[in-house]
Amino acid sequence: MDPIRVGDLILGDEEREAIGKIIDSGRISEGPFVRRFEREWAKYVGTRECVLLNSGTSALIAGIAALKVGEYIDGTRVVTTPLTYVATSNAIILNGLEPVYVDVDPETFIITPQTVSALLEEEDDPSSFAMLLPVHLMGYPCDMDGMDAVVKKYGLVTFEDSAQAHGSRYKGKRTGSLSLLSDFSFYIAHNIQAGELGALVTDDPNIARLVRKIKANGRVCDCSVCVRSTGECPHLRDEDDPDPRFTHDLIGYNFKTMEFQAAIALCQLQKADWILERRQENVRRLNEALEPLADVLATPPFSPDVSYLAYTLVIKDPKRFPRARICREMEHAGIETRPLFGCIPTQQPAYASYRDRYKGRLPVAERLGSDAFYVGCHQYLSEEQLDHMASTLRKVFR
Ligand SMILES: Cc1ncc(COP(=O)(O)O)c(C=O)c1O
Repeated sequence: MDPIRVGDLILGDEEREAIGKIIDSGRISEGPFVRRFEREWAKYVGTRECVLLNSGTSALIAGIAALKVGEYIDGTRVVTTPLTYVATSNAIILNGLEPVYVDVDPETFIITPQTVSALLEEEDDPSSFAMLLPVHLMGYPCDMDGMDAVVKKYGLVTFEDSAQAHGSRYKGKRTGSLSLLSDFSFYIAHNIQAGELGALVTDDPNIARLVRKIKANGRVCDCSVCVRSTGECPHLRDEDDPDPRFTHDLIGYNFKTMEFQAAIALCQLQKADWILERRQENVRRLNEALEPLADVLATPPFSPDVSYLAYTLVIKDPKRFPRARICREMEHAGIETRPLFGCIPTQQPAYASYRDRYKGRLPVAERLGSDAFYVGCHQYLSEEQLDHMASTLRKVFR
């Protein structure tokens, strides 16, 4: 049997054809495919604007930078989750802000309005907070109405990290459209895949404009499509005609992307409903097959609103069933596993300076960070592979 990967990407005839067109066109840097995927992703998510960048991490960094230069925020602290892929916290720190962590829900791994509210209530100086950055982890949507009520009370803005939630819904709306701005990652293991690609979505044209500038080293131009060669560039009106592509009024990064990734993402987007349904079906099937292990293993709660990134398992008795041994045996049986990221301030070495402050204060995130792991539930898994996963789990937890 083929190895059972956490995520798989199968490139078919459509992708080959699109990539062939790009090669034939001679234009591989940002062009028509990037613009088209921006339009289609904004439509899919339900926002006015979408800017593509070379990764989800870049989208987070550029999005926060835009909030700073656009003066949408003025505090220095950011309420966020300790249990996520580390990019979320890194982006906060790389923008000179300080992450402040609240604990997560034990079943869905996401932060809640109750814990955010309790944190802000306890604070002597809530005005030192700039924003809230929740993550819809593993596709589980955060309670954004509840979050909204809390942030309004304290005058914060919300930037939702939807990197792992392509197509998840909250009260009928897709994640990514539920706050001021949001990022997505189309990394290989995600539901809509493109290798390395990210997006920033928002309803605010000014934020989109700033992100477009920041991702191109802060250059003056902010048109979504360059019209300079047509003679219609707005800057051509300037008497001394400074070339706006080489004039910079902000300090930024090179976070631009390429046509190939956008072409692959466009092909994947056509299959979005199928991908989401297949993943939900696989979660249902695995949950059913693992019912006999309910006393030793927590399986992911099923909801038709969740676009599952992976299949998360929480070991209930880690002394008897240490994660390292379980994962080793799974890998031995040809099934890839991943830890559930780790509790950033207490379990990630790069965050060692946060350890003393948070030790023992985030018990759920710490437990999940050490005792939870995930395996694939992706659209390409066969019934035989799903059955092999379930029977292997039943064997290793015997
Ligand atoms: C929650 C979250 N945020 C941000 C990112 C960063 O995305 P990328 O890997 O595309 O940089 C990821 C990537 O997996 C993620 O899971």
